[in-house]
Amino acid sequence: MKAFIHGEINEYIQWHDTDGNIINASDGGIIYADGKYHWYGQALRPLSDKEGGQKTTRGVVMYESENLLDWKYEGVILATSDDPESELFAPMRFERPKIIYNEKTKQYVLWCHYVKHPGNHGNRDGEAEAGVAVCDRVCGEYKWIGTSRPIDNKGFVRDSTLYKDADGSAYFIYDRHVLEGEGKTQFTKGDRCLHVVKLSDDYLSFTDTYKRIDAAFWREAPAIVYKDGYYYIVTSGLTGWQTNQAEAFRTKHLLDEWESIGDPCIDDETHTTFNTQSTFSFKVEGTDTHIMMFERHNTNNFAECSYIWLPVEFNEDNTISLRYRKEWSF
Ligand code: GAL
Repeated sequence: MKAFIHGEINEYIQWHDTDGNIINASDGGIIYADGKYHWYGQALRPLSDKEGGQKTTRGVVMYESENLLDWKYEGVILATSDDPESELFAPMRFERPKIIYNEKTKQYVLWCHYVKHPGNHGNRDGEAEAGVAVCDRVCGEYKWIGTSRPIDNKGFVRDSTLYKDADGSAYFIYDRHVLEGEGKTQFTKGDRCLHVVKLSDDYLSFTDTYKRIDAAFWREAPAIVYKDGYYYIVTSGLTGWQTNQAEAFRTKHLLDEWESIGDPCIDDETHTTFNTQSTFSFKVEGTDTHIMMFERHNTNNFAECSYIWLPVEFNEDNTISLRYRKEWSF
């Protein structure tokens, strides 16, 4: 039987598509549409951290599968540009892209943390934005709409995710970074905290409705899962590509107070989220299994990151647990 293979905690196991190529869909997500799972993410460069491997010269790519194990490459769904005048001039970043479907407009909407050419994180215009693209088909090609910042222009956009609730309302969740003092362009500590922002009905812009998750201070890589009245968000700390200890938070209402429920990882002896960083969570169709996706970033070659997918365990006291499995199937 086929299984998700993760190997030892320090291994970089390659996952391949049906053509035998290494799957290169960094920090993306899964959307179920047209009877198939679609796995998308940013295609990174086969270079190290220092050489800029964490940037893209291709864009967001998509793979599709009926069984979550055999992935067929579908191509680039949101492409970078080779036109220096374009907002999408490569190398750049569509970091942590996420896609949801809008039933009213019948459009798929992609949001990401956008970083303009040459793809360096920073605090100037274009270096810390939310970017949005749209398409009437799940597998592209998505039309770039542009960039903006939720809440106000002072809050830089860092890691982000999307969540579509059962009532059709949708939320952009992001690490909002406000620098200490005015006019600063250099990284300083400042104030960084996860925020939940309600999207407009068409999901293409932000509303004024938002909640600062005070408990999720200095956290990033948010991945949300909902079960039996509770929303849970798994996050990482802020140590760049170096792994660190996970912390989860929960709430009964997305725009209400959230509380920490600590590190959900069981027997994570190195306190490194099993040497990974959280990415996204989705439910397996027709089952009660929620999978949480993590990534083992390969800082020597970002085109060869490892994917770690673990089942979320829901506990009676309304907490969640994650257990490392070298391989598993369902
Ligand atoms: C990580 C973050 C990534 C990326 C990276 C850059 O901590 O989760 O999305 O921004 O830092 O160093």
